Amino acid sequence: MPILTAPTAEQHATGLGIGTPTPRLSWRFVLGEADENDNDWTQSAYDIEVQRSNASSTPESYHVDSPDSVLVPWPSTPLQSRERAGVRVRAFSRAGKPTEWSAWTAVECGLLDRKDWTAVPITSAAVSPVASPDVPAALRPLRFRKVFSVADATVATVARLYITGLGVYRAFLNGTRIGDHEMAPGWTSYKHHLNYETFEVTHLLRPGNNVLAVEVAEGWYAGRLGFHGGMRRIYGEDIGVMAQLEVGQGDGDDSDDKRQTIVTDSSWQCSPSATLRAEIYDGEFYDMREETEWTTSSSSSSSTAEATWSPVRTMAPPTAELVSPSAPPVRVTQTVKPLAVITTPSGKTILDFGQNLVGRLRVQLGALASLPRSHQVVFTHAEVLEHGELGIRPLRIAACKDTLIVDGTTATGEWNPNYTFHGFRYAQVEGFAQDQDQDQGQIKDRLLASVVADVLHTDMVRTGHFACSHPKVNKLHENTVWSMRGNFLSIPTDCPQRDERLGWTGDIQVFCNSANFLYNTAGMLGDWLRDLRAEQLLDSDDGVPPVVVPDILQTLWPHAPLAVWDDVTVLAPWDLYRSYGDAGFLQRQYDSMVAWVDRGVPRGADGLWVSTAPQLGDWLDPAAPPDKPEETRTSGILVADAYLVRVTDVLAQASAVLGKTADAIRYTADAHRVRAAFQNKYLTPAGLLVGDSQTGLALAIVFDLFPSAQTRAFAAARLVELVRAARFRVATGFAGTPLITHALTRAGQPQMAYRMLLETRSPSWMYPILMGATTIWERWDSMLPDGRINPGEMTSFNHYSLGSVVHWLHGSVAGVRCLEAGWRTFAVSPVPGGALTSAEASYETAYGRVQSKWSISDGDKFVLDVLVPANTRALVILPHERSAATEEGQDGRVVDEGQGRWVGSGRHHYESQWSSTAAWPPAALPGLFDAKDEPDSIAAV
Ligand code: BGC
Repeated sequence: MPILTAPTAEQHATGLGIGTPTPRLSWRFVLGEADENDNDWTQSAYDIEVQRSNASSTPESYHVDSPDSVLVPWPSTPLQSRERAGVRVRAFSRAGKPTEWSAWTAVECGLLDRKDWTAVPITSAAVSPVASPDVPAALRPLRFRKVFSVADATVATVARLYITGLGVYRAFLNGTRIGDHEMAPGWTSYKHHLNYETFEVTHLLRPGNNVLAVEVAEGWYAGRLGFHGGMRRIYGEDIGVMAQLEVGQGDGDDSDDKRQTIVTDSSWQCSPSATLRAEIYDGEFYDMREETEWTTSSSSSSSTAEATWSPVRTMAPPTAELVSPSAPPVRVTQTVKPLAVITTPSGKTILDFGQNLVGRLRVQLGALASLPRSHQVVFTHAEVLEHGELGIRPLRIAACKDTLIVDGTTATGEWNPNYTFHGFRYAQVEGFAQDQDQDQGQIKDRLLASVVADVLHTDMVRTGHFACSHPKVNKLHENTVWSMRGNFLSIPTDCPQRDERLGWTGDIQVFCNSANFLYNTAGMLGDWLRDLRAEQLLDSDDGVPPVVVPDILQTLWPHAPLAVWDDVTVLAPWDLYRSYGDAGFLQRQYDSMVAWVDRGVPRGADGLWVSTAPQLGDWLDPAAPPDKPEETRTSGILVADAYLVRVTDVLAQASAVLGKTADAIRYTADAHRVRAAFQNKYLTPAGLLVGDSQTGLALAIVFDLFPSAQTRAFAAARLVELVRAARFRVATGFAGTPLITHALTRAGQPQMAYRMLLETRSPSWMYPILMGATTIWERWDSMLPDGRINPGEMTSFNHYSLGSVVHWLHGSVAGVRCLEAGWRTFAVSPVPGGALTSAEASYETAYGRVQSKWSISDGDKFVLDVLVPANTRALVILPHERSAATEEGQDGRVVDEGQGRWVGSGRHHYESQWSSTAAWPPAALPGLFDAKDEPDSIAAV
């Protein structure tokens, strides 16, 4: 009998502060170890018990005859603002046997109504102080506090802090940090949505006097953002905080007399921070000499001076909707110690953390004890070394530098910047020792012992894992995970280091499927799509979304329709729906999807894109010049038109899921029309594609753009020729790279895909691995073979987009892929190949863990172990059972099930005969002038 996990509410990370009165509930199944009875277990009904926090309420019990276990409707009457309820579930088997009850879970609403807020934002009453004479435009962070008294009787009941910042903030109650959220409240389209966070603070209150203190820095709200020097104060001139501390009942009984409420208002006090400057691109400047005692009431501290407090100014309530985020917060998720201290050819000292990561340094202040007052210690961050020196050119106009001025005391404790983040593997340290003649060995040891790197990102749950017998393929996968971590910091970004770090829509569009497998992105990407929709529909009326969300490029980038990027409006909600089985993504985004397809895409008479619309297209095609990434060998309009067929197909399916029958009929007919128009415009009767490029053919194969099996087969053969002619080096950019291995597999030529995967000459996936990469690079050759950084000014070493090949590792190499939305049914159909002797993947679905693990031994003995969660079914197809037509279709279509079989939950073991060394390695097509024997360039195991 499966064990049920405690239920979760909506796509919310914790259930505390949820933003809806009727949260949908889900539970997952954990199968008992090798329990035969678990086989083919499906749910026929469930019981939910709800215990509302109001002491007088009796437990409510609901029995529902339904197989659904993902996002089932809230069974009770709606919850109120602040109301808590305990919830537990049990499920019934087909035979009507109940499982054990799950553990209780707590669900608590946030402030659901604007009128629940009595707090108003506050800022400094004086003109906002500037950071420092060297950057007069940057605002100096501010500190706010309120001393208040709590009657003894109220303490130890329930206390909640609801808080948001105009900027990024950290809050303290009686000197103790509240929560562990970093860069809070995260980056949203602040004009439309402002996240507030809910903290449980009961344990931090004490009878008598209490101090609530909050520090706020510019963050994304007022700091410099964007390239070419960017812009400042995009969302507002003043930084500030809005907080509401409620002490007392939390039972939904809204009577204020039971509650003591402390809100930001004119009675608060303000003081400048000892952090003089805190900027996302340029870093922080902290002056220990300016530090004060500011988070506790005056008498409690001994050594530190008390802050000088001045009045605050209240501001108008935000016009943006106050939103309780579904996304988990940004947190420190890992600490990395430096591996080595390097002395560069020019004599600089550099810490090497061995991993390109995103976060910040943390320094033991005791290590700086011998430095005199006013001495400066400077840390400059970069991803790579070039000729042995810190490679800062790719950072463009981002100093990525944190400075600490010491106060000459033998301070203890630690220091880290709080309101910035850097993308780095290396940190150059200046001023760590005053006297550079000191024993260098000792200085290095002290550095190694006193500085660590804290990794920061949105703290999503890791859900997907992959491993195989080839260590370099594993490294490629691991590098992709690191690039996802570094670029999922509040919003999905392009890169985390230079003067961008923006929510480029194309990047997440091509990586969305991969991301959804690696981590549970439902909360974070769902929140981000809400901003996309608002900016698309409310800031313009042409249906075109901004190219970065939140949109801060208004004056730096034309508001023009762009395929692949803007197609995120349709494809990301669809990918999320398929990954998590939540039609709410489609429901909430539907008008955004429709606006893009109906109004956003500028069309010619044939219904396809107008042919003059400029496109980014197959951006960063390796054949494009370093300074012109859009000059691709594949026509941008061909890419756009292929995508148009795909998004129209998806919109037709999404309409059907939502029960919008008329729309489903209309978009199905539209898809038929644009597909025919594509064929008429680009295909020869035989199946050749105009442009004849790998990207063009891959798009046409994966998006089903051929009129017949014959033309498709012809095109597939042509794609293989192109791949062999390119000697297996990558010839695709943003649009083609996520699809090329899928296309070759669908063409019945997986060995070609494996051969590409393992190619080591640039451009290839393995080239960066052999160059020592620890993340996915923006360009195939971000680092040139001779150790020079690619001359293109846009050269990041941490871009997840080209890591989207992991989707093929999961779905084809390990062989697990979703069929019915939410993985209610799925395929296990591994495609062994190349030099791999084993591969495995596991994925925590909304139902429970899916696993596939295969190995080949003794040449041809193929063994497959599969784990199928309760309440789901899997189609298992062994390699020898795949017919030539067993293909990976879009949206979970299995074109031909071969001789596969459907199985229910439990563990399944299969053995058969299979040799993947057949047709391995495939040969390149020799060119007229090429030497016959090319050096072997298959990555060695
Ligand atoms: C970003 C890309 C992005 C592109 C679009 C770049 O600067 O880093 O990843 O999609 O611009 O033009």
